Amino acid sequence: ATNAMWGGRFAAGPSAIMREINASIPFDKALWRQDIAASKAHVAMLGAAGIVSAEDAGVIAGGLDAVAGEYAQNGVPENWDLEDIHMTTEARLAELVGPVAGRLHTARSRNDQVATDFRLWVREAFDQMDAGLAALQGALVTRAGEHADSIMPGFTHLQTAQPVTLGHHLMAYYEMLRRDRSRLADARARMNECPLGSAALAGTGFPIDRDATAGALGFDAPTANSLDAVSDRDFALDFLYVCSTTALHLSRLAEELILWASQPFGFIRLPDSLSTGSSIMPQKKNPDAAELVRGHSGRVIGALTSLMITMKGLPLAYSKDMQDDKPPVFEAASLMGLGIAAMTGMIAGSSFNTARMRAAAELGYATATDLADWLVREAGIPFREAHHITGSAVKLAESRGLALDQLPLEDLQAIDARIDQRVYAALSVDASVAARSSYGGTAPAQVRLQVERANQALGQA
Ligand code: ARG
Repeated sequence: ATNAMWGGRFAAGPSAIMREINASIPFDKALWRQDIAASKAHVAMLGAAGIVSAEDAGVIAGGLDAVAGEYAQNGVPENWDLEDIHMTTEARLAELVGPVAGRLHTARSRNDQVATDFRLWVREAFDQMDAGLAALQGALVTRAGEHADSIMPGFTHLQTAQPVTLGHHLMAYYEMLRRDRSRLADARARMNECPLGSAALAGTGFPIDRDATAGALGFDAPTANSLDAVSDRDFALDFLYVCSTTALHLSRLAEELILWASQPFGFIRLPDSLSTGSSIMPQKKNPDAAELVRGHSGRVIGALTSLMITMKGLPLAYSKDMQDDKPPVFEAASLMGLGIAAMTGMIAGSSFNTARMRAAAELGYATATDLADWLVREAGIPFREAHHITGSAVKLAESRGLALDQLPLEDLQAIDARIDQRVYAALSVDASVAARSSYGGTAPAQVRLQVERANQALGQA
């Protein structure tokens, strides 16, 4: 049999392989709500503009509601002959209301229909992701407030560098997510224009009201160029880029949780509810959720790469390649939803071993910079020279297996006579973090300011 939608021009129907390669219904059925909403906006406009009669428009709108009711109850039927969600819905509408259903497709094409549906879907995905990220930020800020004074080693090259506070470290991730949300807001605002009415590529000769459909669907305006509107998938790329940078940030946090939960670190205990055991080693509690968040970032970045490569060689306007835009976006959105929720649970539910973190900060000569700074401040020594003197002190302490502040004064004075008793006050990890009170620094007072600003921005108490 030939295809019911375009059979007029065809002598033979599609081969089995054509049906299968062509079908997007297995995944684009996820667009059914958006497809119904866009069709309802379109038919209401057709009715108001007198392009179809008010009566027909009413029948079609009622029929669309009935189809939506069926989908909500039974799911969307998957018939490959109907290719996609647009034809599936139209075919069912025709079964329910008869030939008048054929008027719905006046002045539109699947090209502007899919562009509209997909924008609506991505817009919602942006909103859901933003809400998830706000909750994760809330968890980070809460824990940061609890640990504004908890001292841990700060690292560069994963070598102990200077003491920092756990609150400061957690707030670093708050900042990354703040930028992710700001990128998200930019992208959402940029994409909020309605392609509907661009028709196949050139617009339409019917006297449609594009402002009406754009407004009904919550868009700021109709898109300005019909060729662009049916060809553009930047909005999906923007979404995937926002997902990718966010996934990358979550992955770095996941990596740190994994490291911190390992026995040699022993900084945190992850919640049981987000860990797994081993089938052979009874002692094990594995950070699988964190590992999966780290791992999924690869798939999310892959989704961005995949769609960029799909789009890069396509001439205007629509090409069927663009049907492949949806799977990467759907996959990335669902991975991000899971990852953000899992990370929120891990941040909210982990317990921090602050004694162990503090002890680690006291190893590794984390306050060596404080000694050098003291020599600059109290003895007027140029920083480069102070650095050298301090290096000698670290070398001596290391050879004796002592911390810097365990070196006797005589030994320090043997290295440089300008050192006196007061230096010890600068060498504790507490003094070290308290001293770093520059704006944005790790001093507990600064961390509390960061937390306060963040709580205000999030509207949390
Ligand atoms: N299933 C198609 C897609 O997802 C809908 C648009 C088809 N348009 C066309 N001219 N074949 O992209």
